[in-house]
Formats: sequence, structure tokens, C-alpha cells
Amino acid sequence: MDFESLSADLRSLQARALEEISAAVDPGALDALQIQYLGKKGDLTAVLRGIGALPADDRPRVGAIANEVGEAVKGALATRGTELRSQVQTIRLAAEKVDVTLPGRPVARGALHPIPETIEAIAEVFGQFGFVIHEGPEVEDDLTNFQMLNIAPDHPARDLWDTLYVDIPGYLLRTHTSPGQIRVMQSTRPPIRALLPGRCFRYEAVDASHGSEFFQVEGLMVDEGTSMADLKGLLDEFAHALFGPRKTRFRPGYYPFTEPSVAFDVECVVCGGVGCPACSKSGWMTILGAGMVHPVVLQYGGIDPERYQGFAFGMGVERIANLRHAVPDLRYYLENDLRFLEQFR
Ligand code: PHE
Repeated sequence: MDFESLSADLRSLQARALEEISAAVDPGALDALQIQYLGKKGDLTAVLRGIGALPADDRPRVGAIANEVGEAVKGALATRGTELRSQVQTIRLAAEKVDVTLPGRPVARGALHPIPETIEAIAEVFGQFGFVIHEGPEVEDDLTNFQMLNIAPDHPARDLWDTLYVDIPGYLLRTHTSPGQIRVMQSTRPPIRALLPGRCFRYEAVDASHGSEFFQVEGLMVDEGTSMADLKGLLDEFAHALFGPRKTRFRPGYYPFTEPSVAFDVECVVCGGVGCPACSKSGWMTILGAGMVHPVVLQYGGIDPERYQGFAFGMGVERIANLRHAVPDLRYYLENDLRFLEQFR
């Protein structure tokens, strides 16, 4: 082995390496070439093994050439690496191109169903008077749905609520939200201002104004000195907020759990009180039942009727929603027909 042949080997190694590097088509191939030429067991190292056989004078000269070759190969690897990475980048950019001038895809906007929308409108008014939302169970016990509301098992008033029972003895689907009154009184202390929205169930022959599944909003206020005047003032505010400045009136009513009991009427929102088919020519529309909480009911709620008085009211949400949106038939609310629901956007 002499200087001439060793340096020729180095030069030809360089030529081969540069050629292969410029022909490499991906970064992985470059990594392999780097190992092949510059690695510990690579070709350059192999050539340099011959250095030991040279005369001492020639060794530094070969070393200098070997360094040059190594630098040239390193440089070629780096240059080609940059080229390849920018090619990959260009291809990716082309593939992921986004045309920002295209019109956006429209987002289909939903809307609240008219029943929860109406419950929100009701809650908003009473919320301004400090009423807080509570909720009770839909599967209720007979005790809370009836007996603690002063309706004994054999009381004829049970006929007012055609009840759907469940398989568990003593349980039923609540026929109104009034059992919530008991639950609130048993779990909180006066002063109480509670609003109880919820789904109710009755065994009904279904028609345009009766459903076996419907919603009510119950209200309950209990405090010292609460009076019928407070009830009337509050309900007036409510009616005016929802239906504008219309006349209202109390009519005598009957519920076992309130005494006295009333029906609350608003001047017909369709004819303004003149009389029309919507109000059966009376000029009035009944929107809820109400009254002063019966002392027995306060007692079942754990509240001393000598110290506290209360009023309660209960309204059918479908009825109110019908009036707000001129819906003629409450069956629409549960049919989930988009042609109906889309009108409330
Ligand atoms: N719960 C009664 C009903 O369903 C309505 C009502 C509630 C009446 C509260 C008076 C007080 O008809």
C-alpha cells in the first residue's frame, strides 16, 4: 500500500459517495449513506486502516485528504438533506392546501323547543321576584302526590287527577307539580320562594287541549304574613310580563291543598275581552290555579301554620305556550315534527 493508491481510493470513495448522495430520494436513504460512508464501520474508516502501512512522512498527507473527503461527504449530505426536506414540505403544502376564499359551511342553528322556552320565560319573571327553581321526581309516591296535599285515598277530589300508576305499590306518575311543594317545605326553611317546573302525567283521552303527558310550573311562597294580596300582585306582574297590560281577575276555585282557592284569568289575548271562539265568548282566559296553602299542607311540610302563611299556584305550560305562539293543538309539542319546531328559531 503506498500513498498514491491510498489517496486514489479516497478520491474515488468521495466521487462514489457524492454521486449516491445526490441520487438519494428520501431522508431515510441519506441516513443509510451517512452510516455507510462515515460510520464507525464505514467505508472511509476502512480505507484509513491502510494508513499504518505507509511511511511516517506520508501519513499526515493522507490524513489531510481523508479529512477533506469526510468534510465533502458531510457537506453533500447536509445539502441534499435540506433539498429533500424542502421537497417534502412543498408536496405537503400542496396536498394540504386550503382555499380560504371558499364560502364557509353553514352551521345549522337549533332553537329551544317552545315548551322549555316558555318555562324559561316564566322562570325569568318569577326569578325577578326571588323565586328559585327546584325539581321533584316524575315517579312520585301517593303520599306526596295526594295525601300530604290533603287528598285522602277515598277523597272524591282524586277524580280531578286521572292517575297513571307504576308497578311499585304506593308509587305513581305525578299528576301535577304540587307534590314539589311538600318536598321543598320538607327540605328548606321559610322564607321560601320556589318555582317547580316539570313533566306531569294523567290518564286522559288525548285531544287538541288534553294530553297524557304535559308540563306544569308550580310556584310556592311561604313566609310570615304572606297574604292573598301578595299572590294577586305577583300574578298580575306575571300576566303583564307575558301578555302585556291586560285586565286580570280572581274567580273562586277549589283545590284540597289551598284555602281559599282561585282560578286566575287574563283578558282574552286573542280578542282583548270582547268575546271570541278562543275564549268561548267569555272574554277571559284561565291561565292557572292558585290559593293560600292549606294549614294542613304546611304542617305536612313541617311548617308551623300559626307562624307562617303561604300561597301556591300551578299553571299548564302548553296553555301558556299556545297563547304566546298561537299554537292551536298541544299534540304538536310532543310529535317532534321539524316543520313545527323550526318555526321557533
Ligand atoms: N296542582 C293543581 C292542578 O294540577 C294546580 C294548583 C297548584 C292549584 C297550586 C293551586 C295551587 O290542577
